[in-house]
Amino acid sequence: MSVRVTALILGLSASLTLLAAGAPAADEAETADLLIKLLKVGRKVVSEHQPLINDASKGNKGFTQDFLASQVIERFRQQTKIDLSRPNGVPSASILLSLLEAEKEVVDEAQPVINKQGVGFKGFLPAVFARKAGEKFYRKTGIRLKLTGTEYRYPGNKPDEFEAEVLRMFADPRHPKGQPYSKATMVGGKPVLRVMDPEYVTPTCLTCHGTPKGERDITGMKKEGWKEGDLAGAISLTMPLK
Ligand code: HEC
Repeated sequence: MSVRVTALILGLSASLTLLAAGAPAADEAETADLLIKLLKVGRKVVSEHQPLINDASKGNKGFTQDFLASQVIERFRQQTKIDLSRPNGVPSASILLSLLEAEKEVVDEAQPVINKQGVGFKGFLPAVFARKAGEKFYRKTGIRLKLTGTEYRYPGNKPDEFEAEVLRMFADPRHPKGQPYSKATMVGGKPVLRVMDPEYVTPTCLTCHGTPKGERDITGMKKEGWKEGDLAGAISLTMPLK
């Protein structure tokens, strides 16, 4: 295996093991973990409402930024016990709220598309939502949050060298399924925390990413030929460290 599993490894509940002295504060690793959860929750809400969003017979769908926010806040609270509607005292509140705001803005800007009557599939799907939210969040905070994969569709999702290496590690059957990888490293001479969280193919992905490989999916792109359980890619976070 070419990637050394040193640095630190994020556990399921943001519990973590710091191996090196002077390694990034536990706070930052925990914030990273929460940000990834918050992005996933938003994407899940979009995914669950895909049939509504794709409903050609409806004009106004009610899938507004406030609706998204209420769903995201509630699910995030259930998962983490953090209530973003009452952020006072939450350690990383301002960063988390920036991501929530970015997610809301994406849904708000897409209202004309989402509410278009007479059109079924409109190109508003979970991966696009996540990408745009990540881009907005980066502009707000300088923290990069992106989806990536070895077989990427969107050019901006292309893995960088670090990401490509970790993706190879995730694809190795010896890597425990679902285990994230994180590392404190230098980018452009500055210390950063990098975290990658692997994602796997589930039945809902197959209409677009499944078989037969090369056939066009509903978005007009070529299917990858993935099967349930395959590594699909990862969420990748790069956070500047102080
Ligand atoms: C409706 C079709 C559709 C479905 C269903 C779908 N995807 Fe995608 N996926 C796309 C498109 C289109 C993109 C490119 C998004 C963009 O423009 O950023 C993408 C992007 C991605 C990416 C980012 C890398 C890249 O290709 O740019 C990953 C990872 C990914 N999908 C995994 C999944 C997984 C896992 C599922 C199931 C849980 C899934 N997708 C379901 C269409 C789909």
